[in-house]
Amino acid sequence: MTIKDCKIIELKKVLDPRGNLSVIEEIADIPFKIMRSYWIYDVPGGECRGGHAYKENQEFVVALSGSFDVVVDDGQQKKTFSLNRSYYGLYIPQGMWREMNNFSTNSVALILSSTKYDEADYIRDYDKFLAKQW
Ligand code: TYD
Repeated sequence: MTIKDCKIIELKKVLDPRGNLSVIEEIADIPFKIMRSYWIYDVPGGECRGGHAYKENQEFVVALSGSFDVVVDDGQQKKTFSLNRSYYGLYIPQGMWREMNNFSTNSVALILSSTKYDEADYIRDYDKFLAKQW
């Protein structure tokens, strides 16, 4: 996997004067089955989340509210994706180092994952990530 496999996916948007609606279906909209969902919120100004890679887990990240940046790194190249709409998200395949920063006040990040939580799937040492020692 390389940085080129990270991609912004635009989701269905049902515009409605009563309020808009967007939807994510596993396999149809994102390329994996959803095993887990979690969200990050109440992030204090200037804080940074992430700072690791996964051996197997794939993720899809949506800014449900507000905005933030996701910096992905395949060990050769880094790319920053700015998420600021609730009708698109970023697909991150396994094996990518990622950091999330620049959170706006009251932002909410929804993350859909292809695996259950497993600390053994994390690569938290950047040198080991670069050396592909996992
Ligand atoms: P972590 O994935 O390191 O957070 P970040 O979003 O900054 O990458 O998770 C922080 C802590 O939260 C971790 O030590 C354990 C807990 N956690 C769970 O219990 N279940 C989960 O699904 C996740 C993502 C984290």
